[in-house]
Amino acid sequence: MKPELDWSNLAFKHRTTNAMVVSRYKDGVWSTPEVTDNFNVELNAYAGVLHYGSSCFEGLKAFRGADGKVRIFRPDENAARMRRSGSHLDMAVPDEQLFIDMCIECVKQNIDYLPPYGYNASLYIRPLLFGCNPQLGIASSTEVTFAVMCGPVGTYSGAGSLTPKTAVISRDYDRAAPFGTGQFKLSANYATSLHAYNLAHKIGYGELLFLDPATHSKIDEFGSSNFLAIKGSSYVTPLSDSVLPSITNKSLQSVASDMGLTVEKRPILVEELASFDEVNACGTAVVITPICRIDDKSALKDGQVTRSFVFGDPEHPACGEISHKMYDILRGIQDGTVADTHNWCIIL
Ligand code: PLP
Ligand code: COI
Repeated sequence: MKPELDWSNLAFKHRTTNAMVVSRYKDGVWSTPEVTDNFNVELNAYAGVLHYGSSCFEGLKAFRGADGKVRIFRPDENAARMRRSGSHLDMAVPDEQLFIDMCIECVKQNIDYLPPYGYNASLYIRPLLFGCNPQLGIASSTEVTFAVMCGPVGTYSGAGSLTPKTAVISRDYDRAAPFGTGQFKLSANYATSLHAYNLAHKIGYGELLFLDPATHSKIDEFGSSNFLAIKGSSYVTPLSDSVLPSITNKSLQSVASDMGLTVEKRPILVEELASFDEVNACGTAVVITPICRIDDKSALKDGQVTRSFVFGDPEHPACGEISHKMYDILRGIQDGTVADTHNWCIIL
């Protein structure tokens, strides 16, 4: 069915589409992927995912290019990350071929929902892996469902792309534990950070910046995106075991390097924020969100702001010049208007 959609006002929200693609792992084999228009999953109430959180997911995008071609951005990277996440849960994981084949099939089944070129919109693909066998004892799941869904999205907040946001440092909540699961895209990590994320929004901030959970002295990442800064001619991003390795960040590092910037992946003390020219959150949903101010607050709910770090002109918050260039190059590669010299996109 051809959907009636306002491509310029999609925001980032759930929409039911034509179909999803599902494969199930049991007795050592993945079933042949099935296309279904039934998005309701029948699950035993004892399924591991419901009690012990045996679940991980991915997020990637398909784009309609200026040349009319359909591109999926770096699905091999998402496949590899899902394999790491699922393996950390000691569950069966789909191989790269199954992962990419099911993403392609999902896009094909929902091609009517792929936004046309020119609306800064895309088809967000959501692969999901969860343990589904009934169990009572704490154990890794032996039967696993792998589902791939997708839906049309615009910008994450619904505002124009590259609209700057404010952020607050999380002093009284951690997203991850030292030696924990921060580097994996486990559903549990989102459950852990949801309360703090809600608090930050309630008190008026667009983003929440988590610190390293061992010492709370270094920058880790935002609630659902990595941290990157421009300092002179350097691209600076945290080196930390508790940060999710962002595919957008990895890609922007290559773009920065191609532009002649020095890429520094290293621990970043909170104090260093004062020396940054441009600061951004980066992730698949937004590519880049410019951060115009970061407040350090002793506690999210009732604490005092002890210091503020401002980036750019406080009277006219805007995306920094170098960040804007990187954004244009990455979006151009996704849209087929800039040469894909690293062979990141697969064309359907
Ligand atoms: N960090 C967290 C915690 C995230 O949820 C995301 C989004 O998926 C990212 C970083 C960005 O990762 P990617 O660029 O692969 O989307
Ligand atoms: C991203 O893709 O950047 C995200 O933060 C996705 C989020 C909905 C988990």
